[in-house]
Amino acid sequence: MSVAVKPAVRSGLGETIVPGEFSLSRDDFRRISQMIYADAGIHLTEGKAALVYSRLAKRLRALRMQAFRDYCDLVASPDGAKERQEMLTSLTTNVTKFFREPHHFEHLKAQVLTPLARQSGPKRLRLWSAACSTGQEPYSIAMTLLSLWPDAVNQDVKILATDIDRNVLSLAEAGVYAESLLDEVSADQRKRFFEPAGAQGLRVNAALRRLVTFRPLNLVENWPMKGPFQAIFCRNVVIYFDEPTQQGIWEKFAPRLAPEGALYIGHSERVTGPATSALRSDGISTYRPAGAGKR
Ligand SMILES: C[S@@+](CC[C@H](N)C(=O)[O-])C[C@H]1O[C@@H](n2cnc3c(N)ncnc32)[C@H](O)[C@@H]1O
Repeated sequence: MSVAVKPAVRSGLGETIVPGEFSLSRDDFRRISQMIYADAGIHLTEGKAALVYSRLAKRLRALRMQAFRDYCDLVASPDGAKERQEMLTSLTTNVTKFFREPHHFEHLKAQVLTPLARQSGPKRLRLWSAACSTGQEPYSIAMTLLSLWPDAVNQDVKILATDIDRNVLSLAEAGVYAESLLDEVSADQRKRFFEPAGAQGLRVNAALRRLVTFRPLNLVENWPMKGPFQAIFCRNVVIYFDEPTQQGIWEKFAPRLAPEGALYIGHSERVTGPATSALRSDGISTYRPAGAGKR
């Protein structure tokens, strides 16, 4: 009697893990998760298979493809470079809002900007929103800064805003937001920092625009910027990375912080690994260079 050879079942790789219009096999999922890890450091466990399916099913429909295997073949090939970007955009989570975790902006104002504003002489200020999504975070930083220091636009002050996803960066640069997204922006701030953009909502004004520079940057690749930064916001992004990747990123932030600077991270994130000797906790999801504030 011959023995039936079922390589797919034996390894489990051909097994469908999300059934449906296209059906996603374990092998398809493994290929997608390897590519997204290589490209962006994003760590997808099999528990995220249904999410991957639902986000990428739209791409398969748009491309009139019948199977995830064909999609994987495309994005793995040199011809699929553009679609690989689309895959990244589909799989990243871009949720953000103005003044998210307001205690960070209060800390920035009271502990970082106010002491700097009191110093005499010309000021050089560099602030960084390191996964800025559609721009609400860097514009919230800019509003905090201008509320305290209206003349900042005429000084050596720059807010760098970076993200891996060029689609969110172009929305951020346009700076147009539906009124429903402006709940956390006070009436006074709306009046001062926004202008009408017709049916689309409100557009950030020239002062905010002048302060913020948007650039693409992949946090798991080399960073050209050296700092020092008086504040780095890296919030709600490393949560998608594995522990070694997170630790590598904390280690790269530490030397880029000014001695009086602060690092703000997401509420469910934590600095771990070698960087803990260079950074000390200074309140909820806030870190400062070890030694800062002890003068
Ligand atoms: C949930 S949003 C966070 C936005 C904002 N920091 C906040 O807390 O509201 C996560 C952002 O991280 C970006 N991202 C994911 N992987 C990245 C990487 N490897 N390098 C840079 N940005 C990345 C995504 O494109 C997305 O815009």
